[in-house]
Amino acid sequence: MRASYIAGKLAMHEKDLSPRDVLTVMEATVYHDLGKVFAPPHVQDLLNSTKHPLSKIELEEVNGHVGISVDYVKSFQPNDPRVLDIIAHHHDRDFPKPIEPWYTNEDRLMVKLETILACADQTDVLLSNDRNYKGRRTVAKTLKVLVPQFGEEMSKLAVAARLRIAC
Ligand SMILES: [Fe+2]
Repeated sequence: MRASYIAGKLAMHEKDLSPRDVLTVMEATVYHDLGKVFAPPHVQDLLNSTKHPLSKIELEEVNGHVGISVDYVKSFQPNDPRVLDIIAHHHDRDFPKPIEPWYTNEDRLMVKLETILACADQTDVLLSNDRNYKGRRTVAKTLKVLVPQFGEEMSKLAVAARLRIAC
């Protein structure tokens, strides 16, 4: 829920997003990690592990929660089918995502919505004790991680939104 609040704040700041777009990215953010709940027990152990770094195989198993989330959310038909695509990209490693010249306006919009969810999620993880085995990061360390991926403006907005929420 915290991440969804941050995503909403980021989305409302984007002038080219419609109210439906804002609600869609907030809905995707609420559901994005549901797959963790349904992951097999050995993956649950990895999700709660303080081991760092995880091996490549372990990391792939942990990231399997993304597909489980998509399948589960698909089963109850979200209000907007774009929710599934946004969730599917929340652990992509290529932020900032390249905007190719052949992208349609809808492609660009999807990149923006995927970026908002990823930024909101990472911000919440970094500034929370309960989602991060390393413990809550400082604002400076959080921005050091976020800015190269999401830019200074979005990163600072996300941090400010997260800091407005207790705990
Ligand atoms: Fe996730």
